[in-house]
Amino acid sequence: MIKTITPATALRGELSSLPPDKSIAHRAALFASVAKGESVIRNYSAAEDPQSTLSCLRDLGVPVETDGSTVIIRAKGRKTFSPVRQLIDCGNSGTTMRLLSGLVAGAGLDVTLTGDASLSSRPMKRIMDPLGLMGAQIASSDKNRPPLQFASHKGLRAIDYTLPMASAQVKSCVLLAGLFADGETRVTETLPSRDHTERMLGLETDFNADGSRVLKSSREFEVLPQQLKIPNDISAAAFWMVAASIIPGSEIVLRGVGINPSRSAVITILQRMGADIRVSVPPEASTSTTVGEPLADITIKSAKLSATDLLETEIPNAIDEIPVLAVAMAFAEGKSTVRKAAELRAKECDRIAAVAEMLQKAGLNIKEYADGFDVSGSRSNACQAADYSSHHDHRIAMAAAVLSLKADAPSTIHDADCAAISYPTFFRDLESLRS
Ligand code: S3P
Repeated sequence: MIKTITPATALRGELSSLPPDKSIAHRAALFASVAKGESVIRNYSAAEDPQSTLSCLRDLGVPVETDGSTVIIRAKGRKTFSPVRQLIDCGNSGTTMRLLSGLVAGAGLDVTLTGDASLSSRPMKRIMDPLGLMGAQIASSDKNRPPLQFASHKGLRAIDYTLPMASAQVKSCVLLAGLFADGETRVTETLPSRDHTERMLGLETDFNADGSRVLKSSREFEVLPQQLKIPNDISAAAFWMVAASIIPGSEIVLRGVGINPSRSAVITILQRMGADIRVSVPPEASTSTTVGEPLADITIKSAKLSATDLLETEIPNAIDEIPVLAVAMAFAEGKSTVRKAAELRAKECDRIAAVAEMLQKAGLNIKEYADGFDVSGSRSNACQAADYSSHHDHRIAMAAAVLSLKADAPSTIHDADCAAISYPTFFRDLESLRS
């Protein structure tokens, strides 16, 4: 689908049904499949990626029922899996493939995990290495890319593993495999990544003297069934935080957004740039989730932004929001920098190249580096209308849409419907906010 986006004068309104958090949804379903008993997950996302996780679990023989946005999983602990097919399709979802690999390897299943063209080009050595050390049997096609062919084995052994990069997906994969292994698996992370896995499972955490964190899992650890309501996705909310900040006269209220501290750097970064963002915790928030995931209402008014340099510790925390933060940087006074963010090149597309292409097409000033970019912005920047490619990347499609709101004439986005991978109602919500 080619989507035409006309410029906006101001965005105003309230969004109470943003997509539920994708990272939490994947985990809630995956963890439920190895718990003993009934898990009830409310506000499960209709977006394509979390739905891929459900269809994979069904193909692995996990009883998954749905009732609207509620998912009910009745599982029998670590022995729930009984594959009904050999080829398990993870779609576009890297989180599905990497986290599920931990469970599939742990359970010793003879299945192959596949994905679409984008997922098939993403690096899997990062999970194949630690899973191999644990004794898993995995063959990949070429260059450690999917499909990943798993074979049964004699049982996994625990490992003591220091993550070579900040990655919640790799951390979670190893910890999930550790749930099936002999002994205690320890995963050390020097740079913190999102902590949903350890938080939701209630895993034991230690701190080393140098401040690095050690997370532990083992076969003895009991995975409890959950009753939870998933908060709305801060990564989806980020598009409106930026849009409202850069379009004069805007005011948007976002309800029930997850503000887990390992995910909310986008708010602190924008506030540091001068954004007018208020975070308020609604009184009912404490009863809305049972997994210790905090949520809040967020109000954003347009503001005069200034440039910023992203800190190394902010990169993993805001990794999915960097494409839209680059749009904010283009309309912030001065030079902003993003470095040590080479991971962006290994996402659904090469997001450093895609962001550079996008801003350049709009006539804006961006300089690309191997591990990031500089954006020289101005509050009064003129933004040309352009013809964008999403590169089949949902976050690039939505960032291009936010950028198009600032243009001098209508812009077009090719393959814009890939926004549904994380945010099926994005373009409808966009139109509802125009005043
Ligand atoms: C995710 C972790 C991040 C993020 C992805 C979701 C998760 O990837 O980019 O969209 O839910 O664990 P990495 O952990 O590989 O950086």
